[in-house]
Amino acid sequence: MYFIRLACLGILFTHSKASYPGPDYEKLPFNTIFPGPWDSNIRAPSNKSQILPVKIFNFEGAVSGAEAVLQDAERASGVSWLISPGGLITFEFAENIGGRVCFEVDDLKNDPFLILSYSESPFFAGRECDATGDRQARDLPLSFSIKRTGVNCVAPGYIRGAFKYLTVYMSTDDTPTEGGYWHDGHSAPQIQVVKSPPWYSRIGQKFLGSKSLKNETGEPAVSISAVWVNCTAFPSQPNGRAYTGYFDSSSSLLNRIWYSGAWTLQLSTLNPNEGGSLIDFNRNFDHNNAPQGAWYSNYTVASGTAVTTDGAKRDRMVWPGDMTIAVPGIAVSTYDMLAIRNALDVIYNNQYGDGSMPYAGPPMGAFGEFSDTYHLHTLIGTYYYVLYSGDLDWLIGRWAAYTRALGVSIGKVDEFNLLHVSSGSDWNRWGMTGHNVEASAILYEVLKNSIQLALWIDKNETSTRGEAWSATRERLQNGISTLYCPANGMYSDNKGRRSCTGPEKVLPQDGNSWVLMSRAFTSQDHANHVSSNLRQRWNKFGAPAVEFPNVMSPFASSFELLGHLGAGNPDAAVELMELMWGYMLDGPGMTNSTTIEGYRVDGYVHYPAYWAAARNSHAHGWSSGPTAALMQGVLGIELTSPLGATWKIEPKLTKWLSYAKGGFATRLGKFEVAVELMKSLRTGRRAEMINVAVPSNTSGTILWGEEAVFVTKVHTSTIGARHRFWRFVDSETATETEGEGSDQVNIWTSDMEGEWIRDEEWVKPRVEERLAGVVDWDLLEEGYLLAGQKFIGPLPPP
Ligand SMILES: *[C@@H]1O[C@H](CO)[C@@H](O)[C@H](O)[C@H]1NC(C)=O
Ligand SMILES: *[C@@H]1O[C@H](CO)[C@@H](O)[C@H](O)[C@H]1NC(C)=O
Ligand SMILES: *[C@@H]1O[C@H](CO)[C@@H](O)[C@H](O)[C@H]1NC(C)=O
Ligand SMILES: *[C@@H]1O[C@H](CO)[C@@H](O)[C@H](O)[C@H]1NC(C)=O
Ligand SMILES: *[C@@H]1O[C@H](CO)[C@@H](O)[C@H](O)[C@H]1NC(C)=O
Ligand SMILES: *[C@@H]1O[C@H](CO)[C@@H](O)[C@H](O)[C@H]1NC(C)=O
Ligand SMILES: *[C@@H]1O[C@H](CO)[C@@H](O)[C@H](O)[C@H]1NC(C)=O
Repeated sequence: MYFIRLACLGILFTHSKASYPGPDYEKLPFNTIFPGPWDSNIRAPSNKSQILPVKIFNFEGAVSGAEAVLQDAERASGVSWLISPGGLITFEFAENIGGRVCFEVDDLKNDPFLILSYSESPFFAGRECDATGDRQARDLPLSFSIKRTGVNCVAPGYIRGAFKYLTVYMSTDDTPTEGGYWHDGHSAPQIQVVKSPPWYSRIGQKFLGSKSLKNETGEPAVSISAVWVNCTAFPSQPNGRAYTGYFDSSSSLLNRIWYSGAWTLQLSTLNPNEGGSLIDFNRNFDHNNAPQGAWYSNYTVASGTAVTTDGAKRDRMVWPGDMTIAVPGIAVSTYDMLAIRNALDVIYNNQYGDGSMPYAGPPMGAFGEFSDTYHLHTLIGTYYYVLYSGDLDWLIGRWAAYTRALGVSIGKVDEFNLLHVSSGSDWNRWGMTGHNVEASAILYEVLKNSIQLALWIDKNETSTRGEAWSATRERLQNGISTLYCPANGMYSDNKGRRSCTGPEKVLPQDGNSWVLMSRAFTSQDHANHVSSNLRQRWNKFGAPAVEFPNVMSPFASSFELLGHLGAGNPDAAVELMELMWGYMLDGPGMTNSTTIEGYRVDGYVHYPAYWAAARNSHAHGWSSGPTAALMQGVLGIELTSPLGATWKIEPKLTKWLSYAKGGFATRLGKFEVAVELMKSLRTGRRAEMINVAVPSNTSGTILWGEEAVFVTKVHTSTIGARHRFWRFVDSETATETEGEGSDQVNIWTSDMEGEWIRDEEWVKPRVEERLAGVVDWDLLEEGYLLAGQKFIGPLPPP
């Protein structure tokens, strides 16, 4: 360990202002606080009030105008679409988006009604919607009668939370065929009259519309000059592009991945009155009589003005399981902490009498729905919320409820020193009962967090309950070690049938990842084996979740990313991000903008938790793991007390990158790290350089290099601090050192601007070829029956 005097160099992050106060989460910033070229990767629209399609995906039958390229200039010059019976146009948006559809209608005749159908995936774009419920393979399309010229918008209840494709067509028949259409989009609730947007007056008379409608054949027709979506997501952000964090690296794929996670989390953040897409389940409470296949989103799922939910299209409810991945992701991208607190509040407010937390927020929670793991995820969400927001007052108010909930889980740790899971509910995976490894490892982590939380609000707690919590941690660590299967180099799922010697042995992805990420392993050897064996199982599309047959789960794989980091194998984490999340962007049927809930081992966009492929959610917060993992793992920024008053920074460039740069802000200010491979013009030698910037009046440790070669403690002054360090990374690990601080092994702090340039000769290593997974169709069928387990409590009759 070395302590050195640091050279402070002011030239590194030039956009910093000395007295930056940090984002106020009661009022999020209007502009991004780290502007730079990386902003081009932000998927959020610059104006969410009006998102225009970018392309015609398909058109058929009686339409004209669809050949036109969708350019502002052309629209302004008078292109419009004329649709009459049999005509269909599918519009494509630049990314998966959500909200209310509006049209600018130029002309109409003979009481036309349009039919609207929505899909996230290109695979389900067409006359039927993709699905939000599970009683039909597809949702009913929405009928929408056009009654007047000018702006027509679907009524506010008809928010479609996520879609990239909008199909607009006119039936050849007055009466619906096949599945029929859902309600007239005007009337449930009431018709909304929207004032014409300012550009309306610019458009003028429409060529196609006015000409064609002179054709008096008696058939209905409508001429439309514009279609747009009024986005209802991320209500706390006046400007969706006003990010409080950023990421940039030598991998353009990884950069797109970081921003797709951030965008998914924005899209899944709602006005709490516009949630609840499980309308069959809502019926228990709102007594709606919507027909089978109907959809809308008007259920109040929390209080406040914004809430983070599981997914944008569905379920649009607070699901704590998502929080472990979503909360740190939000914290480092948009800092929408209020949306997180509202989500936590609704779970706490519905805590059961015995201290258990509900499986999900309203409409669930009235029938005793419970999951041992989701119960713990609420507590993890609590920790991250407090860590990033610094909201200790809120924690003090919730502390009694928190410790009661924790007591419920501790009470289930029995003589086997494992958490004896009483509920079969988890993230839809199979076999969640008994002395389970994942649940035990999550509790191991929660206990560590709890000791921290207690310390932050009441030092006394640490000496009293803290000791008991540490003791339980030790017991859990012992218990978990008994589940290790030496022959496989991995942990088994439980002590019973799914154990190392059990008849249905399972070496689960979630549980093994959790042992690594919570660092519950008892030897680094075990950790290395588990990390390398998880990697061995990857297929062409990513990491399979063997505990749930046929499934690729970006949720369990988000844990796996953190698991590889916990095992000290960041190479595997970055490799998996590019493999799996790269597929989730560019693979067939994907949105190329948001992270999908799950898919099949053969790569198809069907999540086997549901019998209907179109039910998949293509924007699911639990799949956004890389957004936080890149901050923690590659840039290595870890806050160790609320808001980052103390921190640890341990950058790991990995073999896949030649540079990485990024950071985020809390109310204290900006945390920023850059790591870069450099080359000396003079000697040809290679070195790695890190730049670190932290807010004023904070302190922490920078660890860097193999086996903590370099450790320095920094207490920054009132002006904040920026630090730059170098170390050689070529084979001549010379004793020779250069620059200031040259008594250090291969590390010096100085700026050698003239001599050192970015290493342009660096070549990315080759990626292994992997085979596609093979679907077990019998097990797939079996799974549909098991999936019913997710909804405990009375379901209305079909
Ligand atoms: C967004 O677009 C609408 C309609 O064109 C316009 O009224 C509004 O001022 C725009 N908002 C911003 C922030 O540019
Ligand atoms: C979007 O919706 C908001 C709220 O209803 C409204 O104020 C705004 O004018 C709408 N913008 C457009 C372009 O439709
Ligand atoms: C009127 O519309 C019909 C059917 O859309 C078409 O066959 C016919 O050619 C049109 N007539 C004129 C004069 O445009
Ligand atoms: C949502 O809309 C449906 C259909 O119009 C209605 O039955 C239900 O009562 C509404 N729910 C709420 C909470 O407004
Ligand atoms: C701190 O803990 C001790 C031992 O449990 C207890 O006697 C004491 O009252 C506590 N102090 C406060 C301020 O809560
Ligand atoms: C996805 O979008 C990126 C730009 O963000 C583009 O470069 C890439 O080609 C797209 N992938 C596919 C499969 O269209
Ligand atoms: C840092 O701490 C000092 C002493 O507590 C205080 O005077 C100063 O205002 C603080 N600076 C900032 C930027 O918070």
